[in-house]
Amino acid sequence: MRPRTAVIPVAGLGTRFLPATKAMPKEMLTVVDKPLVQYAVEEAFAAGIERIVFVTGRGKEMLADHFDYTPELEETLRGRNRLDPLQQVRGLVPTAGCLIYTRQNEPLGLGHAIWCARHLVGDAPFAILLPDDLVWSGPEHAPVMQQMCDQFESLQQPMVAIMEVEQQETNKYGILDPLEGSGGNAVLVQAKGLVEKPAPQVAPSRMAIIGRYILHPDIFSLLGKRQTGAGGEIQLTDAMAMMMQKHPIYGFRFQGTRYDCGDKVGFQMANLALALEQAEMRSRLLPFLNTQLGQWSVHSTAS
Ligand code: G1P
Repeated sequence: MRPRTAVIPVAGLGTRFLPATKAMPKEMLTVVDKPLVQYAVEEAFAAGIERIVFVTGRGKEMLADHFDYTPELEETLRGRNRLDPLQQVRGLVPTAGCLIYTRQNEPLGLGHAIWCARHLVGDAPFAILLPDDLVWSGPEHAPVMQQMCDQFESLQQPMVAIMEVEQQETNKYGILDPLEGSGGNAVLVQAKGLVEKPAPQVAPSRMAIIGRYILHPDIFSLLGKRQTGAGGEIQLTDAMAMMMQKHPIYGFRFQGTRYDCGDKVGFQMANLALALEQAEMRSRLLPFLNTQLGQWSVHSTAS
């Protein structure tokens, strides 16, 4: 059985990107030519997900508009015979009924946002994608959620995408404590524990949870206990740690590069890396970058 529903939480305020996100959802920030949320939606559908539950908040209406028809724009493009962009904007609209919206009325944390989707997910395994984490898998690998769904088909146990981070960065992530003998370089790492944002001195490993999950619906009753954790928020990681009494949880080492688009530098890196993937942009960007690098290395030598 593969997950058929994905939850994409999009209620965050995006304070790290102010003033850009004052009136615009942070998930609409553009990487090259697509908003972040579109990368997550395309990844979910590519994995065979059939419906997506967005957990939104006030001021996020633009997200729903992005995935809806735009009759005036389409009419204009058709009139000008601009068929490629016309196809692009029409291709953005999934079959009616496949996108579902609910609101997280209070900012109580990621765990609470996921809990808000409980009635819409129902009683089956489901996926979660955090759009801030953009994972580029390149042409040689399947998108991460597809990689995970393929694993899930045989494993049938909850799993989270993981990657190694620097020791001093553990306090930015959920960290997986591997079961003895389960770490190494294995693709699947069974967890003995999960800790949200541990300080580097006490982190059980450097295996960080990245924003891709496949979970059983049992998680909802645990999230419903509303226990707060790191930062005083209801944490998904804490509920998963509780869930381990019932189901083993696995970390999945995915193929691809993850960009932290919730951070200004990570966001710039994503833009640059994805632009360089396109031959036409690459041929114009590389000379520019070479010039910039020359200038900045002169500056840094001077300082
Ligand atoms: C959230 C999760 C954290 C995870 C991270 C991945 O944290 O709580 O466990 O490692 O996403 O991006 P946030 O980045 O929302 O603080």
